[in-house]
Amino acid sequence: MRFDIITLFPEIFNFYFEQSILSRAQKNKIIKIGVHNLRDFAFDKHKTVDDKPFGGGRGMVLKIEPIYKAVRKLKAKKSNKTKVVLFTPRGKKFNQKMATDWAKLDQLILICGRYEGADERINKLVDEKVSIGDFVMMGGDLAGLIVVESVARLLKGVVGNSESLIGERITPEKGFVEYPQYTRPEVFETKGGQKWRTPKVLLSGNHQKIEKWRKGHSKVIE
Ligand code: ADE
Repeated sequence: MRFDIITLFPEIFNFYFEQSILSRAQKNKIIKIGVHNLRDFAFDKHKTVDDKPFGGGRGMVLKIEPIYKAVRKLKAKKSNKTKVVLFTPRGKKFNQKMATDWAKLDQLILICGRYEGADERINKLVDEKVSIGDFVMMGGDLAGLIVVESVARLLKGVVGNSESLIGERITPEKGFVEYPQYTRPEVFETKGGQKWRTPKVLLSGNHQKIEKWRKGHSKVIE
């Protein structure tokens, strides 16, 4: 699967994607990530990507031309399993079901906005407007990282040991988050003399009971 990110801050992405699991997934050719600087698609020699809003008002607005040019260039011509996403706090809230659906695509083009927003005509270019939560950030870049990571990890072979996903009891539409886990020591003693214990059932060796306890303590996200 291919991810194409359109951003004004490519360095943030390049640094992150060079780390550990996503870097390995790229080397193993399970995913391809293209990070594109929106300024490279600007039309003028000053590489202008934003302008004052018509009608006046605060802030700057991302211009339509560079975004249009970038999406046109990046969109795979041969596949229809491709989606163009714009990050905005006004979008539909991202969830595990969307991550699962998007993991079936060939290509995700992620537009990370900045400033006060983008020229409204961007709607003609995007398939979906997405928010990662009910809060306002300074731009969509962190949202882009979050979406790449949550979609990529669902692709076969990305999380090295497939047990890690099985442990979560991931079902495509309902993703269980992991149940609570403990490791040695069995009892951890704090400086103040408190004893933080591992639940006895997990030390019992009774797999049926352990399974039941884990089910009871799994949090379902839908
Ligand atoms: N840009 C600013 N805030 C955002 C949010 N919550 N989700 C996606 N993009 C954003």
